[in-house]
Amino acid sequence: MSAAVEPLVSVEGLVKHYPVRGPRRRRGAPASVVHAVDGIDLRIARGESVALIGESGCGKSTVAKVLVGLVPATRGVVRVAGHDVVPVTVRDPEARRRVQLVSQNPWSALNRARTVRHILAQPVLLHGRATGRDAVERRVVELLGLVGLPAEYLDRRPRDLSGGELQRVTVARALATEPELLVLDEPTASLDVSVKATLVNLLADLRAELGLTYLLITHELDVARHLVDRVAVMYLGEVVETGTAEQVFTAPEHPYTRALLAASPAELVIGQLHGDGLVGEVPSAIDVPSGCRFHTRCPFATETCTTEHPLLRSRPGDRAVACLRIDELADVPVAGTPTGRTPQ
Ligand SMILES: Nc1ncnc2c1ncn2[C@@H]1O[C@H](COP(=O)(O)OP(=O)(O)OP(=O)(O)O)[C@@H](O)[C@H]1O
Ligand SMILES: [Mg+2]
Repeated sequence: MSAAVEPLVSVEGLVKHYPVRGPRRRRGAPASVVHAVDGIDLRIARGESVALIGESGCGKSTVAKVLVGLVPATRGVVRVAGHDVVPVTVRDPEARRRVQLVSQNPWSALNRARTVRHILAQPVLLHGRATGRDAVERRVVELLGLVGLPAEYLDRRPRDLSGGELQRVTVARALATEPELLVLDEPTASLDVSVKATLVNLLADLRAELGLTYLLITHELDVARHLVDRVAVMYLGEVVETGTAEQVFTAPEHPYTRALLAASPAELVIGQLHGDGLVGEVPSAIDVPSGCRFHTRCPFATETCTTEHPLLRSRPGDRAVACLRIDELADVPVAGTPTGRTPQ
């Protein structure tokens, strides 16, 4: 990507802290916060597809919610196509139109009382993408066609649709504003295996056909492998590794990424990785560890890792890694492989 070309999405120093209320707040303790997202930078070129991966609770959906304007950021700058999304005091309808969210649960995302026609016509009208009854009708039929559903579906309601069809309608509704960026937060998590494959293929086709840009959040690494060019790995609110999908999936460098890729899908969803020499449990997002946040679980951690905070540093190729020991560890094969070195 040329430095002169502004990326479609530019996230700088994004922080989102949630105040702790209720039983999670210790008596008499000073007001504490959940460090959901703690200073991430992310650039996504126009037409690029990037995955955010990491264990449950690492802050992926929080990034998604800030990007689509569902929650305000604590600090940082988020720009999409030159329009500020953050700070949220900037109420720019054009920025809102350009970014649309497809989330995990289509059933709760759609108004059950309304027909598919109404569900799709609403954003078309709201964002002025067509005017007049006939033009709006033509557009909703076109939107349904884009997601592979026939016009007969216009008079159906969410309860008349299967899970896969519901998710297609959610995608069609997102496309209604003619967005540039689709934020896909676990889009296939609620679907059966065969339906999942169809949706993944549909998303790949739509991206090519409409020139869309994707930010994909998923625990399903096979889905990410199929859909993205680049990957950012999150741990406890921070990005610890970025690189091309090829680099990250075939030769992960950060000890956390190695463990993540060695984990089973169930471990990823529950957020309890134990493979690849990992020790301990996921620390609390309220009392985050000092130094490198991963040091409490890292099989390679040294004394320095407990006090010094690693920054994301460029590595050979188009990748960056936040690990104080990366120069020593990059060539160490993943533990468990025939040449793997015992962690020390
Ligand atoms: N509204 C909220 N109030 C307080 N804490 C929150 C809120 N929403 C999320 N969190 C906390 O922020 C952290 C990040 O949550 P987030 O939902 O972004 O994680 P995630 O990576 O999307 O997880 P998952 O993979 O389970 O969806 C977690 O510790 C979560 O408990
Ligand atoms: Mg989430």
